[in-house]
Amino acid sequence: MGFSFFYTLAIVFFPSEDFRKEANVKNSTLFEEAAQDREAFWAKQAECLDWFKPWDQVLDWKPPYAKWFVGGKLNACYNCLDRHMGTSTQNKTALIWEGERGEEKSITYEELYAEVNQFSQALKKLGIRKGDKVAIYLPMIPEAVVAMLSCARIGAVHTVVFAGFSAESLKDRMVDAEAKLLITADGGFRKGKLLPLKEMADQALKAVPTVQNVVVVRHTQQPIALTSGRDHWYDHLIGEAPTECPPESMDAEDELFILYTSGTTGKPKGIVHTTGGYLVGATMTTQWVFDAKPSDIYWCTADVGWITGHSYVAYGPLANGMTQLLYEGAPDFPERNRFWKLIEKYGVTILYTAPTAIRTFMKWGEEWPQGCDLSSLRLLGSVGEPINPEAWAWYHQHIGGGRCPIVDTWWQTETGSIMISPIPGVTPLKPGSATFPLPGIDAKIVDEAGQPQTSGYLTIASPWPSMLRGVHRDPARYEKTYWKNGSYFTGDGAKLDEDGYFWLMGRVDDVINVSGHRLGTMEIESALVDHRSVAEAAAIAIPHPIKGQTIVAFVTPKEKASFQPGFEEELKLHVAQIIGSFAKPERIIFINDLPKTRSGKIMRRLLRDIAEGRVAGDTTTLADPSVMEQIKAKYQED
Ligand code: WTA
Repeated sequence: MGFSFFYTLAIVFFPSEDFRKEANVKNSTLFEEAAQDREAFWAKQAECLDWFKPWDQVLDWKPPYAKWFVGGKLNACYNCLDRHMGTSTQNKTALIWEGERGEEKSITYEELYAEVNQFSQALKKLGIRKGDKVAIYLPMIPEAVVAMLSCARIGAVHTVVFAGFSAESLKDRMVDAEAKLLITADGGFRKGKLLPLKEMADQALKAVPTVQNVVVVRHTQQPIALTSGRDHWYDHLIGEAPTECPPESMDAEDELFILYTSGTTGKPKGIVHTTGGYLVGATMTTQWVFDAKPSDIYWCTADVGWITGHSYVAYGPLANGMTQLLYEGAPDFPERNRFWKLIEKYGVTILYTAPTAIRTFMKWGEEWPQGCDLSSLRLLGSVGEPINPEAWAWYHQHIGGGRCPIVDTWWQTETGSIMISPIPGVTPLKPGSATFPLPGIDAKIVDEAGQPQTSGYLTIASPWPSMLRGVHRDPARYEKTYWKNGSYFTGDGAKLDEDGYFWLMGRVDDVINVSGHRLGTMEIESALVDHRSVAEAAAIAIPHPIKGQTIVAFVTPKEKASFQPGFEEELKLHVAQIIGSFAKPERIIFINDLPKTRSGKIMRRLLRDIAEGRVAGDTTTLADPSVMEQIKAKYQED
């Protein structure tokens, strides 16, 4: 698109005076305060929460282990619900939910409070206590938020598993977390189809002896099997439960949740977040970056199964008493204007979505949003991967009507809350750049030796409140993967421009990002070699115009017979079964041998060269350089 030069180099978008005047953050004071004394700054921010007991010490930092707000007591659910009771927020709508088939539900803060109290009691009755792990495998329905908050209320640690994950992935996560209870639904809806969630849960549960009880939300009404003594209907439990459940007084450093994410090995890591610091981060960034106002109708399209759904659906917006929209379903159901219809219908003021979605909308064409009234929008957000300037320009013009600032927010499951992002009333925007680290965030770009550079590895040089506290049951992995010389290593590459703007360049490790879903190439390889006819596999990511990246796998089958037609589809399905359909490779190329060094290391870099049509790099270290020609021929012929 002709826009890219124009937008990347020439244009800086300054906040309009109208926006700035009304904004929560109007100037750079916060940055200055944070720069003067980071700990004092965070202590001041922590006052945004209601604490049962104040902390004795702001930060206890024994690298790489941080404790924030040491000695402080609070409850995350109390901060999202109880403290709004008796205020004007009590009768305000907390959640507006719309299902794919058009069903609607609207829940006030008071109603949400009542349901969470009852469900908390129900969980207690099922034997759940402080510190117990509870798995949640639900579609995007209000009960998903109720379930998370109820766990937080009684001090149970939730681990939400995205409903797009397979039974196998659900099992692995429940086993690793030692989940005692699972909350699921009869099913979910997606593009008019039914997702058999309970069936998948049953399959997973066969191998999870720690789960004693299963709570089932009735949602799709599809027939399901219940295991007597183990499975309980959500509505029955709620109906019988007392209406009040006092919130547990939690230590600031007590675990709030574990969320699994992909890394560079075949095994996902359980990222641990604690209560106080995490909630300070989620709450304050919602105020700064999304400019949260009592009058907003906020819509984050992320699923609760990802970190964005934790920080910017469940915790951040509710702690700020916002009204938000939840939508269960696809953007093109029944037509390609569903998102725009929702914005028009509910008067959405803030939209937070992913570049992959924006590029899909671009491909569908601007006639879809043009047919709807989007004038309620005042702020747009982007998350999950770098947003290319063309997509930024389209989003700005066709969705934001040229008037809405775009906050391109960089962060990770591990960081807990947004780290690098514009503050919409303050930061001049450059399309494609996440701009600057937020106040209190010490982001540095360094080289291999840890020396500051204008291009290199993105690191965070000082601890921040919402940082991960560890990898569940694997401290060695936490220390090794993330820390170098006392700095947090993000795994992303970045550049600084002459104005000090941060430009994110993508991952520098074997983590890939397909449609904003984080995956490890090793995970895909493990799923492939799990198939009985596969000898070896190498998965790589190549750029994709809509999905950002897509997966190409090179596979050597065990027997020649496996080269037959149909085997590619069978293997793709196998990956879907092991991980989830979103992890299916786009292409599988069958070859006789992978490019390997004499010591047997697979040279994925050379496969990337072939896939991206480049002249292959140095092949002299290969045990058999002739395999390159064969692979190339095979790649081009398929
Ligand atoms: C990528 C999602 C560029 C990045 C919140 C990071 C981004 C990974 C952006 C984390 C952005 C996320 N610009 N890249 N605005 N946001 N990323 O854990 O590579 O699912 O390391 O968290 O997504 O993915 P995760």
